[in-house]
Amino acid sequence: MNERRVCNASWRLRCTVNGAPVDLEVPVDETLLFTLRDRLGLTGTKGSCLEGECGSCTVIVDGEATNSCLVLSPQMEGCRIETIEGLAEGEKLHILQEKFLASGAAQCGYCTPGLIMSAKVLLESTPDPTEDEFFEGMEGNICRCTGYKSICEAVRDAAKEWRQCRA
Ligand code: FES
Ligand code: FES
Repeated sequence: MNERRVCNASWRLRCTVNGAPVDLEVPVDETLLFTLRDRLGLTGTKGSCLEGECGSCTVIVDGEATNSCLVLSPQMEGCRIETIEGLAEGEKLHILQEKFLASGAAQCGYCTPGLIMSAKVLLESTPDPTEDEFFEGMEGNICRCTGYKSICEAVRDAAKEWRQCRA
């Protein structure tokens, strides 16, 4: 991916990504999306519109679903960042990853990491979402393959199991 530079100044970024400390020099005008993908090799996070419309670049910053194409990396100073690569524990997939697989909720798969990260934020705050809460939590993520039925099914199934695990 290419990002046009408009400034040569840099920033020493210290934050955590998937629990690991990061201490990295980044251009001050670089977005988090490009730092994750091009400097840290975390290419699970996808870029598409690069203007906050599609949600494919969604990561979690301090517990909030965040479009990584819209925030500059220096703004991440001291933040706790989670990406799709941090979800599985070794060979054990996260429940959302399991349910997306089981429901066939990925076609080309480009939107999938962003959808899963948004769903994680939703279920962490609202384990039993109403219809409105569900759509509000997921509305920032677009699937151009339009497999919404199986995506909804996967998140609903994950929510059910999530609640059972917590009970
Ligand atoms: S690439 Fe960030 S919202 Fe589309
Ligand atoms: S599965 Fe292709 S964009 Fe969603």
